[in-house]
Amino acid sequence: MPVNILVGTQWGDEGKGKVIDSLGKDVDYVVRFGGGNNAGHTVHVGGEKFVLHLLPSGVLHSHSTCILGTGVVIDPAVFLEEIKELEDRNFNTDHVLISGRAHLIMPYHVILDGLWESLKGDDKIGTTKRGIGPCYGDKFERIGLRVEDLLNKENFARKLKNTLNIKNQLLTKVFNKEDLSFDEIFNSYMIFAEKLKKRIINAEQELQLALKQNKKILLEGAQAMMLDIDHGHYPYVTSSSPTTNGACVGSGIAFKHVDKNIGVCKAYATRVGEGPFVSELHNEQGEWLREKGGEYGSTTGRPRRCGWLDTVVVNHAVAINGLTDIALTKIDILSGLKEILICVAYEINGKKVDYIPSSIEDNQCAKPIYQTMPGWTEDISNCKSFDELPKTAQAYILKIEELIDCKISFISTGVDRNQFIVR
Ligand code: IMP
Repeated sequence: MPVNILVGTQWGDEGKGKVIDSLGKDVDYVVRFGGGNNAGHTVHVGGEKFVLHLLPSGVLHSHSTCILGTGVVIDPAVFLEEIKELEDRNFNTDHVLISGRAHLIMPYHVILDGLWESLKGDDKIGTTKRGIGPCYGDKFERIGLRVEDLLNKENFARKLKNTLNIKNQLLTKVFNKEDLSFDEIFNSYMIFAEKLKKRIINAEQELQLALKQNKKILLEGAQAMMLDIDHGHYPYVTSSSPTTNGACVGSGIAFKHVDKNIGVCKAYATRVGEGPFVSELHNEQGEWLREKGGEYGSTTGRPRRCGWLDTVVVNHAVAINGLTDIALTKIDILSGLKEILICVAYEINGKKVDYIPSSIEDNQCAKPIYQTMPGWTEDISNCKSFDELPKTAQAYILKIEELIDCKISFISTGVDRNQFIVR
């Protein structure tokens, strides 16, 4: 079967971009299936650093067609900026295409994202304020504008007029803000339309044809398990399904075509934004991980919260996504630690729990139960095989494998495309 799916198993920022880039060499299509420019993939190629938010990491392999699928929400200004940045660095971007069914992020989505958050007080989510939630909200409210609407001026004007009327009432009557000008939005989106039209396709149809021709397709996840709207730490989640299940919906590819479901797991844990994080370290150890791992958000620059690997979370990801393989990333960062802890269960109100509770309050009061593993001092960033790794690093990997009952097939030992062990 020609389709592989790659998703995050924690809270995002696991290094999916790097793994996709290392695996992406042999694929004909790379498809992003959800989220928008809330994501941030950092990819290092040939000593150069690329930070992408909306474009799939696979864009750097110009032999693969890159598709932003129906499940993605697209801010056209951001899309065009990223395209320009790549072109300025001599990357051809003709292979980047957008599904006409994808939804457009509009200026009012970005404004409302900030305004909603400001009303939530202590319950704020810590969104990226890129308009993601409000855009998906309109999709499900069925008042969203889709990318293909850009291709027909009259349709776009009619739909914008209707939706803007609702948004302006919200802005002026609820939030006491100025209303937004129809003409300004319409004119700027018609300029975007001119620049985007050559890239807008019926992507789902294109992918069905590709399947018939047995082309290799990689469905590229953004965000991750615990940010899933259904199975994550609701409400501290994003507004889409960054799971393998979401991958099928957001690309239009049925499960029966899928071969491998690969989960990317960082060798420790990080999260940005608010919400439960049972194995979080509020001490020097956490700061050490942040500094050594460069754990600052690539989208917002926010310092990431850091902690030990939580296999209750990764087990949840293995189950919900039906993972067949794990890609373990950033294990090189752990070099130099005397001991490494793994959170293997939680204590909640005096009881041991080894699954993710459905209640957010139970997640918030859970205490970590740890297993301790010996660390290693060697620099492992140039190890080319599992056997070359220090014995204690091997033991750490094998322990994770045992705890999550899923094969660790790939190990990333550094930022470069080639610092990648295939087991
Ligand atoms: P939103 O997706 O901007 O609505 O933000 C909702 C939550 O998801 C916040 O905690 C964000 O920090 C988090 N989030 C969204 N996208 C990513 C990502 O790509 N990596 C890590 N966290 C993310």
